[in-house]
Amino acid sequence: MSRTSVVIAIDGPAASGKSSTAAWVARELGFQHLDSGLLYRAETSRRLGIADLRSPEVTAAVSEVAQIPEVRAAVNAELRRIAETENVVVDGRDIGSFVFPDAQLKIFLVADPWERARRRLHQRLGRPAADDEIAQETRLLVERDASDATNTLQARDAVLIDTTYLTQEEQVQRIVALAQKV
Ligand code: DC
Repeated sequence: MSRTSVVIAIDGPAASGKSSTAAWVARELGFQHLDSGLLYRAETSRRLGIADLRSPEVTAAVSEVAQIPEVRAAVNAELRRIAETENVVVDGRDIGSFVFPDAQLKIFLVADPWERARRRLHQRLGRPAADDEIAQETRLLVERDASDATNTLQARDAVLIDTTYLTQEEQVQRIVALAQKV
């Protein structure tokens, strides 16, 4: 049976703003938001026996757990099961390229590593970060990009959006405008 629901795939590297953007786009469209990274974190936290999905321990281990083929198969099956009956905005690394190659709209978000680090720190600290803090976080992010690289794949037909100089509202409005045309 072919799917009758709508899938919007939003992929991109760590701290590119995928999840918050996907959540906002989903709210605007009345779709369900599926955060695939959170499913990998849930499996990682189950294995480690740790409850907080965004804890440093889970964050340090999740990339490796997400490499396990059985884990990927289970996460992908769950995403596809939900999308059979619900309109969804799904964010991750390989959603448009692999999990939903037939998604009606595919977005790939990118942003300068320094800017991604600056945004992430501002959110975490609740204040603007100093340059040396941003430099340190940029290094961690670039390492993280490398460990996630095998599972990060931009679909050929994805719309690339560089958010370095966009506000979150601007990027959401761009995606919503594209979604209204599908
Ligand atoms: O987006 P995030 O940081 O919550 O993702 C957690 C981890 O899961 C990260 O190491 C990348 C991995 N991941 C993946 O391999 N494939 C996805 N579709 C989503 C996340």
